[in-house]
Amino acid sequence: MYDFYSDTKSIPTKEMLESIVSAPLGDEQKAEDPTTAKLETRVAKLLGKEAAVFMISGTMCNEIAVKVHCDPGDEVICDASSHLLNFECGSPAALSGVLLNPLQGTNGIFTSADVKNAIRPKSRYMPISKMLLVEQTANLGGGAVWPLETIDAVVGEAKSHGLVAHMDGARLLNAVAKSGISPARYARDFDTVWIDFSKGLGAPCGAVIAGTTDFCLQAWRQKQALGGAMRQSGVLAAACLYALDNHIEQQTMDNELAASIGERIMAFPQITNVMPVDTNIIVFDVADNAPTATEIVDRMKDRGVLLGAFGERRLRIVTCLNVDKNAGDALVTELASVLSD
Ligand SMILES: Cc1ncc(COP(=O)(O)O)c(C=O)c1O
Repeated sequence: MYDFYSDTKSIPTKEMLESIVSAPLGDEQKAEDPTTAKLETRVAKLLGKEAAVFMISGTMCNEIAVKVHCDPGDEVICDASSHLLNFECGSPAALSGVLLNPLQGTNGIFTSADVKNAIRPKSRYMPISKMLLVEQTANLGGGAVWPLETIDAVVGEAKSHGLVAHMDGARLLNAVAKSGISPARYARDFDTVWIDFSKGLGAPCGAVIAGTTDFCLQAWRQKQALGGAMRQSGVLAAACLYALDNHIEQQTMDNELAASIGERIMAFPQITNVMPVDTNIIVFDVADNAPTATEIVDRMKDRGVLLGAFGERRLRIVTCLNVDKNAGDALVTELASVLSD
């Protein structure tokens, strides 16, 4: 099977697994796991922040950021396509009593004018606009990279009204690979930012959130409260450190493979729209007279290629270290055949 469903399916390499065996371990809850501490220090530096906390997942990073930054009744401004809104079980409401105020951005990217309009005036009866969320890259926006000027403008607008800024950087390193802008520069004006290790970086699980030392102390308490505190977490952190040492370059390769697939399928007459392919995600729509998205997924599966249906006629292809140029060629050939069947 060639698996283009998601970069979350990236399988740890043998070398990554071997790096775990020799990792020094301890009890993370007592701050005694040296490998986890090393990873946290390394990510804090990468993102230009004082401190960082290793979490079990990116979802936990988002939810803990909401919990620490907001009070019940507060509001988070985010894009309507964001992971926080669509794929986290309504947890801002369920866990923190927090509302989401969704903006209709273009490919997951909104403007400072949108933010200005969304921020509520100070009032005795309205929710308090407390936090701005930016997703870099925008997943359902087709992996779109937020331009730095847009980030600076939306964060500047939010900060001028006293909001906290939080970046969901699940695929920040794909954006870095594309633009050449450093992770610390992207993260500069955000109070908190996290990166995921279980996607393009290829680790089995884990994400690290960075911010001030005070934020990280509070985040740790919330991690404990949610049952996310681990023991010998160096087993996981070692894989993440291996990824930082060995899989950064992979993000560029993933972006390039996606760009080449996007260019080739754009020419298919049954494909009506391919969202701009900035990074490792290709989102495309098929015509009304083509098979539906789920029919295409099923037929492609029969031919040994996995991809995802994201709507009646919308599909998604994601590249990561599971797939190479040969897999990309197979995908393009099989898709052409399925679409013309
Ligand atoms: C943009 C974005 N944010 C957050 C997450 C959640 O990350 P995790 O799977 O590590 O919980 C994902 C996962 O796909 C994502 O795509």
